[in-house]
Amino acid sequence: MPRTIVSGRLSPAALPIGLSVSRLLSVKYAAQRLPVSVLISARVDYVVEKEKKKILACPICYNSLAALISQPHESAEYPASGTHLQCKYCKKSYSANETHLDLTVASGTKQYTEPLPLSIELYRNPLVSFLYERGWRQNFMWGGFPGPEKEFEMASEYLKHVLGGNIIDASCGSGLFSRLFAKSEHFAMVYALDYSENMLRQCYEFLKQEANLIDKKIVVLARADIARLPFLSGSVDAVHAGAALHCWPSPSSAVAEISRVLRPGGVFVATTFIYDGLFRFVPFLKELRQEIMRYSGSHMFLSERELEDLCKSCGLVGFTCVRNGLFIMLSATKPTR
Ligand SMILES: C[S@@+](CC[C@H](N)C(=O)[O-])C[C@H]1O[C@@H](n2cnc3c(N)ncnc32)[C@H](O)[C@@H]1O
Repeated sequence: MPRTIVSGRLSPAALPIGLSVSRLLSVKYAAQRLPVSVLISARVDYVVEKEKKKILACPICYNSLAALISQPHESAEYPASGTHLQCKYCKKSYSANETHLDLTVASGTKQYTEPLPLSIELYRNPLVSFLYERGWRQNFMWGGFPGPEKEFEMASEYLKHVLGGNIIDASCGSGLFSRLFAKSEHFAMVYALDYSENMLRQCYEFLKQEANLIDKKIVVLARADIARLPFLSGSVDAVHAGAALHCWPSPSSAVAEISRVLRPGGVFVATTFIYDGLFRFVPFLKELRQEIMRYSGSHMFLSERELEDLCKSCGLVGFTCVRNGLFIMLSATKPTR
């Protein structure tokens, strides 16, 4: 039985007030006033050394990462080129550029490239990344998306049991939710991840401009593939994925990864487009849908039942959702043993 809640009946998020990240974290630096090189070096060191729980992992073997080199005098062109993380086990190293860490499997390759589905390549485009928060995202309202502030409020309702922990904003795009999570001060660390280098650049620029962002140091920007998350198993309190599931080449690999990194009791909350009314009853259209999905690489024709099934098959329980037109916000939890 699908458990659908009509969006209008969802009560506003009741978030506890007075929970301050600054109380959870002891080391402070004024990020806005530091040159970029210091900001990035500090960020990498911060992640590795000051993180309360060290949860970053090698996306190849899933063992812990440690700081390898942190040179204080990087060149002006490549300010963070001397900053690396290295896997303690397989010794693969990962570097940071001026905006983000690269924690993809192919990080550091010089010759290797692989063709990716359109739904990924679209968002790697610099123009699309630039336009994303300047009009593109607003168009999702036509499909029933209530808009980032309301979506954040709704997601917060699902996340209220994991406050004070760490959260991955998976496929963060230009970071609209990463900023809201950071500004809320309800999470000790916000990991803003995306596969698109250009989206991460936008994310970084927006973070820099955000005058009210109290603790920039709690946001870590990293390039990562949703199907190969750079986190230790069972180490993450929450994963949020806004408007992204339909872009992932394999939602099953992605949700399996999310389930792997969530700790028992950890929460997955995601929004996506669904389109299940007609398809549920017309077998021919179901096959057509498969073909469209195969060639576009987009999964925006999944149904609520399929999403529930997917969560269940990846070991997540308590599926629940809110729907409005083509919009769905779903949540499921990693069971406590
Ligand atoms: C429509 S945007 C959503 C951005 C933002 N979360 C929001 O709510 O508006 C989808 C994002 O998914 C990212 N994406 C697509 N495939 C991905 C993958 N395999 N791993 C990580 N991110 C991916 C894209 O780069 C893009 O930024």
